[in-house]
Amino acid sequence: MEFTDTHSHLYDEAFTGEEDQAVGRAVEAGVTKIIFPDIDAETRDRMFALAERHTGTVFPCLGLHPTSVNADWKKELEDMENYLDRDIRAIGEIGMDLYWSKEFQKEQQEAFRQQIRLAARLDLPVIIHSREATKPILDILKEEKSLGNRGVFHAFSGSLETFHELQELGDWHVGIGGVVTFKKASIAETVKSIPLSRILLETDSPYLTPAPHRGTRNESSYIPLIARKIAELKGCSLEEVAQATTENAHNLFQI
Ligand code: NI
Repeated sequence: MEFTDTHSHLYDEAFTGEEDQAVGRAVEAGVTKIIFPDIDAETRDRMFALAERHTGTVFPCLGLHPTSVNADWKKELEDMENYLDRDIRAIGEIGMDLYWSKEFQKEQQEAFRQQIRLAARLDLPVIIHSREATKPILDILKEEKSLGNRGVFHAFSGSLETFHELQELGDWHVGIGGVVTFKKASIAETVKSIPLSRILLETDSPYLTPAPHRGTRNESSYIPLIARKIAELKGCSLEEVAQATTENAHNLFQI
């Protein structure tokens, strides 16, 4: 059985000195492909260096994370352009995060808009980070619908209604991670009604660690725990979840 982790930051400081082992443990657990969403200029070189050591397993992306959007955001986007000749598989992670701070809300909106335009120009999917920002994100996607963007809402925690709204907007998947294993997580109920053809597995390592490892560092090798929970919720086999989500990931990211 093979899995893909569509959202992992194994290049994060939390893994300093054992990044390669973490990739190795994932492959051993059947997680044979891993997508690395980008954060900002500070972590970018580290991300590409680790990805290059695991070509064919790890696939990097390019994007300015919404919590890294500040007064310097235009300079950050210019810096990104130096990496456009790399083998990137998506623009991300991009979006809006109004949970941590609303200080740069306007800048977040503008940076998001510019980056979905970049994705359309490059014909790449996007990885969206949306936290306390469903409405402003959907508004921008509606205004820019003619771009024909496709991609994934990472760490999806929205309602079934939001999921349906996304389907009307285009070819959108939802990323399901460790939260689905938490007791009383509303996404567990929602997942029952989301077709497997729209679901991608993700860890968001080192964050959002699934049960029974909550409270410790998350890593890509935990993907089967998330897949098993989804199988249980949907009343299907683990193999079915593995096969469908792997196929979804391979089609979306061309991996
Ligand atoms: Ni992330």
